Amino acid sequence: MGRASELARALSAGDLIILPTETVYGLAADAASPAAVAQLYEAKGRPRFNPLISHVGDLDAALGIADLDDRARVLANAFWPGPLTIVAPYRMGGGVCDLARAGLNTVAVRVPAHPLARQVLKAFGGPIVAPSANRSGRPSPTTFADAMAETGAFTAAALDGGPCPVGLESTVVALLDGPPRLLRPGAVTRAVMEALIGPLAEAEADAKRSPGRLTRHYAPSAPVRLAAGAPAPGEAYLAFGPAPEGPHVFNLSPSRDLAEAATRLFTYLRAADALAPRAIAVAPIPEEGLGEAINDRLRRAAGFVG
Ligand code: TXA
Ligand code: MG
Repeated sequence: MGRASELARALSAGDLIILPTETVYGLAADAASPAAVAQLYEAKGRPRFNPLISHVGDLDAALGIADLDDRARVLANAFWPGPLTIVAPYRMGGGVCDLARAGLNTVAVRVPAHPLARQVLKAFGGPIVAPSANRSGRPSPTTFADAMAETGAFTAAALDGGPCPVGLESTVVALLDGPPRLLRPGAVTRAVMEALIGPLAEAEADAKRSPGRLTRHYAPSAPVRLAAGAPAPGEAYLAFGPAPEGPHVFNLSPSRDLAEAATRLFTYLRAADALAPRAIAVAPIPEEGLGEAINDRLRRAAGFVG
């Protein structure tokens, strides 16, 4: 608990910290402090209209900041602690500052499963905002070294939790008026949620219709070429399934295991990018289960979705 209380003290002092979670590393701040949250947006280079996720220790704490309807509670009971973020009406006075919510009357809340994140939440006692610890528009860090290289310089303290076991950001689902909407696919898959609460509206239908929101996200420096059967000369290659080995080949999963591919995706995008290739070619990934989340991140890396 020693390190956890040290990190909690840094948060109370208005400082930023690097916080491991089961999905990706977070750059964390006290959700109640506009000054700390402003510093966080600054460190990430993140536009202030993009709201943050509030992390809390348990369902009770979530109910202190968000009005969770029956559907939200079913999902919370099934998947918390874990890689699911619920967007719900904000409960006024809940202690998440306006800036953290980008001025919206909704809030994104999640209960992380990583033991170190849980210790820090317990020691701190209030909601902690934590976007992925990358600089805005770059791949999320899934190792301590990558997190430190991205935003470590802006922090007062950091915790090494080892490689993140999930490797992709949490699933984000909105439970507001009307049907549930899948805002970001993730480790909690569409199918398991639909089995519990019925059909989810199309992911990011609004963003796809609005060209103003088409930006390159999660992006390495090299261009990304999707659904590539093999690399062209000068390209690095992210393989999936049996493939020839080589210095420029990174196999996401020789056995075609989507969970394994998810844990490796961002690390391999970074490693491939470090070779300064002409492009990063990526093998086709099936659009089923976790494949929906992996393909979502790949399409963003390639610049197809905002
Ligand atoms: O796995 C994760 O969720 C990681 C770890 C650190 O917990 N965090 C993370 O945060 O991925 P970030 O900030 O990179 O992504 C938060 C996503 C963004 O797409 C943001 O637009 C959305 O959640 N979001 C946050 N609040 C929202 C709200 N009130 N309404 C709609 N979307 C919201
Ligand atoms: Mg992010």
